[in-house]
Amino acid sequence: MNTEIIKIDPENIDPQALDKACEYIKRGELVAFPTETVYGLGGDAFDPNASRSIYAAKGRPSDNPLIVHIAEISDIYDIGKNIPKTAEILAEAFWPGPMTLIVEKSTSVPYETTGGLDTVAIRLPSHPIAREFIKRSERFIAAPSANTSGRPSPTMASHVIEDLSGRIPCIIDGGRVEIGLESTIIDLTESIPTILRPGAISLKDVAAVTKDARMDPGIGEENPSVRPKAPGMRYRHYAPKGELTIVEGDRDKVIERIIEECQTRTKTGSTSAVIACSESAKEYRDCLVFDIGAKMREEEIAHNLYDTLRKLDEEGIEYIFSESFDSPDMGVAVMNRLLKAAGHRVLRV
Ligand code: TXA
Ligand code: MG
Repeated sequence: MNTEIIKIDPENIDPQALDKACEYIKRGELVAFPTETVYGLGGDAFDPNASRSIYAAKGRPSDNPLIVHIAEISDIYDIGKNIPKTAEILAEAFWPGPMTLIVEKSTSVPYETTGGLDTVAIRLPSHPIAREFIKRSERFIAAPSANTSGRPSPTMASHVIEDLSGRIPCIIDGGRVEIGLESTIIDLTESIPTILRPGAISLKDVAAVTKDARMDPGIGEENPSVRPKAPGMRYRHYAPKGELTIVEGDRDKVIERIIEECQTRTKTGSTSAVIACSESAKEYRDCLVFDIGAKMREEEIAHNLYDTLRKLDEEGIEYIFSESFDSPDMGVAVMNRLLKAAGHRVLRV
């Protein structure tokens, strides 16, 4: 399959270029497009065949539901039913933006889109191209992240091209995305709003408007017997080809230990690299360092994480050692993804 790449400037959207992409959607075909979180792989949410094509292109298990992207808050009544008041409150507070709400699905949404569930995930993105694309397609757009299943989500068009070129007919190149991690998913079908996947909107942000909110007990590491509620959070994800270890503890000890580990790998003829924040990147003498951004500005780390993981694969690094980036806000989302990428391999020093 030939993949058409349509370049669009988010600051000056060319409607004719965008309409070319929308034509694919109207014909039941797929288009990858930028959102403020990550690139999505879109198809008509009400067309079961489009959803089937999405699963096929990504190599994704068909029981892992898709997110339905809308252009106006009022669209939630077409996608969901028995919409709770909290949905309206959260929508007013955080949409358009990096938040996905789970509610009961309306009969219009096919089970192919929801992975067989009676609930549906809905998101109103803020990216100007995403919004115009949904509007001009005159459809609701079902879209997972536009990566091959198991790879880091794409934060720029080149990542999508790497994974899906030749497998989908069209990619909108709208430059690098702003946030770099997937949206916060909030389940509103439980008695308390429950975060199924942490993202740029934190538990604190949610609790500030809904009063009550909690994290899905299945996404922590404390109790491995509790399964995450979002099907996608159960799969092994984002695993780089090399063995990734997170090293935690006192800053100087972490640096010292990582240098030692890298030296050992060099001696035995293996390649190794370090993921470090800008503040300490220079201290890893004789190591190959990937500076992931300033710890002081945690959104920088989120922005760079997936691109860094992809670069480590490109370089064919066998052993990767990463600092820990825990912090109360974006750090929760960053560490959720990093721990998964490391298969929960953590060294405490
Ligand atoms: O930021 C984002 O959310 C991006 C952009 C493209 O919008 N999309 C994204 O989609 O990350 P995806 O498919 O990669 O992740 C969707 C997650 C999966 O973990 C899936 O299991 C969960 O949402 N999900 C979808 N519908 C659900 C439902 N009805 N109940 C529970 N989890 C659901
Ligand atoms: Mg994904």
